Amino acid sequence: MVDTASLQIGDQSVELPIVVGSEDEKALDISKLRAETGYVTIDPGYGNTGSCQSDITFIDGDEGILRYRGYAIEDLAERSTFIESAYLLIWGELPNAGQLNEFSELFTKHQMLREGIKHHFNLFPPNSPPMAVLSSVLNALACYYPELLEINDEDTFTEAAARIMSKVRTIAAYSHRQQQGHHIMYPHPEKSYAENFLHMMFSQPYNEFQPDPELIKALDVIFLLHADHEQNCSTSTVRMVGSSEANLFASVAAGVSALWGPLHGGANVAVVEMLERIRAENLSVSDFVSQVKDKKAGIRLMGFGHRVYKNFDPRAKIIKKSCEEVLAKLNIDDPMLAIAEELEAVALEDEYFIQRKLYPNVDFYSGVILRALGIPKEMFTVIFAIGRMPGWIAQWYEESKSTKICRPRQVYTGPVERSYQPVGQRS
Ligand code: ACO
Repeated sequence: MVDTASLQIGDQSVELPIVVGSEDEKALDISKLRAETGYVTIDPGYGNTGSCQSDITFIDGDEGILRYRGYAIEDLAERSTFIESAYLLIWGELPNAGQLNEFSELFTKHQMLREGIKHHFNLFPPNSPPMAVLSSVLNALACYYPELLEINDEDTFTEAAARIMSKVRTIAAYSHRQQQGHHIMYPHPEKSYAENFLHMMFSQPYNEFQPDPELIKALDVIFLLHADHEQNCSTSTVRMVGSSEANLFASVAAGVSALWGPLHGGANVAVVEMLERIRAENLSVSDFVSQVKDKKAGIRLMGFGHRVYKNFDPRAKIIKKSCEEVLAKLNIDDPMLAIAEELEAVALEDEYFIQRKLYPNVDFYSGVILRALGIPKEMFTVIFAIGRMPGWIAQWYEESKSTKICRPRQVYTGPVERSYQPVGQRS
C-alpha cells in the first residue's frame, strides 16, 4: 500500500504521509503543509478533518457501526452496564469483578455534594435552564477540589473522574428539585447509578420512589448509549479546552455548553417539541414532511440526519426497541410514539431523505422514552450530558497525553490594512 500522497500546487510537489487507522480509515497528514508550501486546508464544520488519532470509539457511518474500545454497542447495551462501559471507555478494557467493585465504590464515596455547593442552587433564578446550572456547578466544583486541578498521575485522574461522574447526577437531580421548589433528596448509598438518579429526582422524604427494575435498566441503557461518540461537537470542545491544560472540571463544563444546542444534544428536546406541535396543530405527518422538504420555513425533521451516519444510527434502533418495551410495560399509549413511528416510516420512503441519506438518530426516540420515565422535557439534554460524561473524561485524558494545544488556522476575508480615523473625521 502507498504510504504517501502527492499534492501538486503549481510547480511545487509535496508528499503527504498517509496515516491508516486500525479499521483501515485513511488520512493525509497535512501537519507540515503550511511550513512547506504556505497553504493551509480549509474545511468549515470539520466534516473532513481528523483532529486526533484516538483509541476510544469507532464509528462506521456508512455501515451504521458503533463500538466502544472494539465492543459493539448492541452487545454492550444488552449485556453490560453504564458503569462497566464507563470503565471500559476510560481505561480501555472491561474490568474484572474486583476492578468493577472498586470503581462502583468510588461512585458511592463521591456522590454527595459539599454543603457549600448546595448553596449555589439557591442563587439561580426560577426557571433557570438545567444545562446552564449543570455547566456552572460543574465548573464551580473546581473551587472545591484545588488538589485535582493539575493531573499528573493516574490516581489523581481517577479521583477527579469519579468525583465528576458521580456528582454530575447529584447536581442534575438537585437542579431539578430546586426548580420545582422541592426538598433536595440526598443520594442513597445502596442504589445503583441510574436508580440513584431516579431516587434523587422523584423520591419524597415520606415516600421512596421505587421504579420497576426494567425502567432502571432502560435509563441505564440510555446513559450507556450516549457514553461516547468520538469527535462530535461537545467532545471536540472538551478536547480543545483540555488541550490548553485547563482542568477536567472546566473542560467537561464546556462540553455541557456545547451539547446544549438543538443541532447536538438539545435535539432530544426539539424532537418532542416537534411531535407536540404536529399534534397540537393537528398536522398530518405528510403535511409536516412537506414543510420540512419545502425548506422555506427552515423546519428540519429533528432527530433525523447525522454528520457521520449515512445509515441507521445503531443507537436509534436500540432506543426504539427499548421505548416500545417501556411503554408496553407501563401500559402507556403515548400518541407521540405513534406520530414518531409514522414520521419515520414516511421519511424513510421519501426521496428527499433517501437522497440525502437521512436516517433517525439517537435523539429521535429518546425523548419519548424519557417522557415515559417521567423525566421532564427540560431535563432531557441533561440526561444526555450525564451519559456522555465518561466519554468526555476518556477523551480529555487521551488528549492530555499530547503536549500540543489545539489551534486551527483560518483564511482571513476581512478588510486589508487601513489607517485609523478619529471619530470626528468619519462620515
Ligand atoms: N431535516 C431535513 N433536512 C435535513 C436534515 C433534517 N433533519 N438534516 C439534514 N438535512 C438536509 C440539509 O438541509 C441538507 O440539504 P441540501 O443538501 O439540500 O442543502 C442536507 O440534508 C445535508 O445537511 P447538512 O446540514 O449539511 O448535514 P450536516 O452533516 O452538517 O448536519 C445534523 C448534521 C446537524 C445532525 C443535521 O442532520 C440536523 O440538523 N439534524 C436535525 C437535528 C438533530 O437531530 N441533531 C442531532 C444529531 S445527533 C447528536 O448530536 C446526538
